Amino acid sequence: MTSIKVQAPGTVANLVCGFDVLGLCLEAPYDTMEVRLLNERKVIVQSADGYPLPTDPLQNTAGAPLVEMIKELDESIGFEVLIHKAIKPGSGIGSSAASAAGAVVAANHLLNLRFSKEDLVRFALFGEKVASGVKHADNIAPCIYGGITLIRSIYPLDIISIPAPELYVTVVHPQIEVKTSDARQILRKEVLLKDAIKQWGNIAGLVAGFMKSDYDLIGRSLEDVIIEPLRSILIPGFAEVKSKSIEAGALGGGISGSGPSIFMLSKDKDTAEAVSNIMQETYQRIGLEHHTYVTRVNGQGVTVVV
Ligand code: HSE
Repeated sequence: MTSIKVQAPGTVANLVCGFDVLGLCLEAPYDTMEVRLLNERKVIVQSADGYPLPTDPLQNTAGAPLVEMIKELDESIGFEVLIHKAIKPGSGIGSSAASAAGAVVAANHLLNLRFSKEDLVRFALFGEKVASGVKHADNIAPCIYGGITLIRSIYPLDIISIPAPELYVTVVHPQIEVKTSDARQILRKEVLLKDAIKQWGNIAGLVAGFMKSDYDLIGRSLEDVIIEPLRSILIPGFAEVKSKSIEAGALGGGISGSGPSIFMLSKDKDTAEAVSNIMQETYQRIGLEHHTYVTRVNGQGVTVVV
């Protein structure tokens, strides 16, 4: 096999309380990527949609992880990548992670699955470094492993897949761009002990809720007393979408990754659709272009298109 096509899905990082340590993989939206094997140590990344991409692969979210991968190969091998983007950069649904994860998963198939999933996360983190200046794995890990993941540690990598009951995810992407690097810049470097206690109680509660299929516990644990109060100011309509969605029966939700997308979790499809209507009404009234997705947790992560 010398070329392959994959679908690289969007992801929701943080899951409200778990800043940088929790994330889930979405069924939609997803990017499509074609990767071809080259017989020289070279990485070429091109956009199928005419996005101007940096020609230096080290400056590119799909290119930098492949350069790292090639460093660990003895052979004279390289990769050419063609990206069809469906996940908008700056949307908060893991656009850069999809490019990075899709590239390394596809390349690994071309190498007969030589590397482990953990290796692939290690490579893909170089893409996040390019995109936001920081290596955070809460989009990369769910994109590669599928489902819901806990990143207990980055140095050394320790990724745990968390089993969960069926969940519907409604996502709204108001068409403003929030750069992850900017959204990290506004955060305080220190937290109060009383806030930290609440936050780690919620993280533990959320993980326990997923593992016990306890929807009420999931709902009450979707609370963030540290990041959301600062970042939600950047997102028009945030408080209204959140409160009305919960009134309509959603379990809870909040900012997707670093925003501006907002996600809400629901037990069933009807509630998830009702939440989508609330999101659309809110942004129509505010007069802000938006996209909504009613989707589910994707247990597979990046998949090969046959
Ligand atoms: N954990 C990261 C952040 C995710 O919130 O900055 C970015 O998608």
